[in-house]
Amino acid sequence: MSIQSELIRSFRPILQSLTPEAESYLGMIRRAGDDKFGDYQANFAMPLAKKLGKKPRDVAEEIANAWTNFDLCPKPEVAGPGFLNIRINNAWLEKSVQTQLTDERLSVPAVEKPRTIVIDYSAPNVAKPMHVGHIRSTSIGDALYKILKFLGHNVISDNHLGDWGTQFGMIIWGYRRFLNPEAYQANPVAELTRIYRLVRQLVDEKKTVKEAVGSRQEAVDSPDGDLLVGDAVLMETSKLHHGDEENIALWKQIMQSCYKEIDKVYSRLKVRFDYTLGESSYQPQLEPLVESMIASGLAQVSEGAVVVFNPEISEAPFLIRKRDGAFIYGTTDLATLEYRKAHFHPDAVLYVVDSRQALHFQQLFRTWRRMDPANENVELKHVSFGTVMGDDGKPFKTRSGDTVGLESLLDEAESAAWKVVEQSQACQSMTEEQRRDVARKVGIGALKYADLSQNRDSDYVFSYEKMLAMNGNTATYMQYAYARVRSIFDKGGIDVEAFRNSNPAIVLTQPAERALVIELSRFEEALLSAVSDYRPNQLTSYLFELAARYSTFFERCPVLKAESEEAKTTRLALCDLTARTIQKGLELLGIETVERM
Ligand code: ARG
Repeated sequence: MSIQSELIRSFRPILQSLTPEAESYLGMIRRAGDDKFGDYQANFAMPLAKKLGKKPRDVAEEIANAWTNFDLCPKPEVAGPGFLNIRINNAWLEKSVQTQLTDERLSVPAVEKPRTIVIDYSAPNVAKPMHVGHIRSTSIGDALYKILKFLGHNVISDNHLGDWGTQFGMIIWGYRRFLNPEAYQANPVAELTRIYRLVRQLVDEKKTVKEAVGSRQEAVDSPDGDLLVGDAVLMETSKLHHGDEENIALWKQIMQSCYKEIDKVYSRLKVRFDYTLGESSYQPQLEPLVESMIASGLAQVSEGAVVVFNPEISEAPFLIRKRDGAFIYGTTDLATLEYRKAHFHPDAVLYVVDSRQALHFQQLFRTWRRMDPANENVELKHVSFGTVMGDDGKPFKTRSGDTVGLESLLDEAESAAWKVVEQSQACQSMTEEQRRDVARKVGIGALKYADLSQNRDSDYVFSYEKMLAMNGNTATYMQYAYARVRSIFDKGGIDVEAFRNSNPAIVLTQPAERALVIELSRFEEALLSAVSDYRPNQLTSYLFELAARYSTFFERCPVLKAESEEAKTTRLALCDLTARTIQKGLELLGIETVERM
């Protein structure tokens, strides 16, 4: 039980006796900004007094006088215009340390009402290399998945691969004409990317088939020679979508290579999905879905296309079938929601996708809600994120101007982390293999943490140097803090397991110890706030704050050379809890720790 939830529980009946809206006021209990004012502060007396037409200080007094949970703290102190200052009893804090010490969940209870939550993340368009935006979706989605699961929810991850889009028309058409078999053998996705870019360019330049394939016999003879490449490509997509056997076979073959490629990335990131239901899995449902939407009057035919008008969202309608009969992204997303509803019965569906798709999701959500009033009961949330920028203020690209492929990004992160390993004293005695392992965990951790620690809505500037900094809010700093705390047990020759189970007596005497304990007990608060609006940076901020409290504690309170056995035991307990909280926190963010670095 965290201090915050304990305070809420105790204030609830008191506020309920004053107002029917107690719940909304209970959200106003906060960690105090300054130790002078106590540990926690409740600011609800002021707005409540206004509502009741009473004097704020009188209301504050009334609430304070009704206090009964003296185990937790003495009667709150009324200050200023009506603040309630709360100082937690040492005995309560000491007990909380003891409980956490032997609790694997670090005193974070599972939620009382688990929800079923589908998370849609990563979802690259295959046959194009994954890029830095996909790591953002993957990191944020995976962290939310892990945190929600730890909190006891029923969470389902589904990788909605872009495996059916118009890019396949380009690739199929180009594959038959421009494939370099050796290159394809060596690195299929790289070769497909080359073909994709080449065809794209031909389309953009409005080249005809004859111009594109030059003097090749096939072009000269072909009745299609005067066709625009753009149209030829659309025909291939359409053939694929209508079940043309040759195109389907080629698509399957291409998909095999793509799976292999993305799996390489996922295994390096240590991310796995419960389901990988790509766009292609919903194709049979699209036609009947659109027909039934027309029949119900929700969709209408407009200039040959089928659209849904949601004027409250945008003047432009939501397109579900193009004039040429093709179904698109939005159609598939509607069918996907229908599928998820039928199979998973979700309370919420989260989409961790670039903020540039905001309008698509507004249209999708509104349209789906209009399909069935019961859909109102499902929370639909676009967990949107900003763009990863280069230091030139433009979307992050390599020097050659390509968007950075994800694999090379991971390679570079690991080699940048190698420098950290080389400089580390603690790594000197390790084998080459162990050091590589540290570099891998530090490098990949740095990448993920850089994404997670940002306010997800903002764009941020990508920099290996910054993300691997030993000081500052980085994974490297947190991993280092973890290893340092752990090393205390090594140095003292103390068996941690045995220590934990020895039911050590905890006695808090120093302000720095108290501040650390309070921070440790806020882990649950941090997790809840990370999921309340799906913001993992609430958890990284917490971990950073915890590390800061630990630093102060460590500066002021000697551990192995403590003044008394009691102080030493207490401080060892705080060290262990700090290490485990950092480790658990990082684990929930998908980041590994190392015992030495
Ligand atoms: N494939 C899309 C892209 O790379 C993202 C898909 C997100 N999920 C969804 N259900 N629309 O932009």
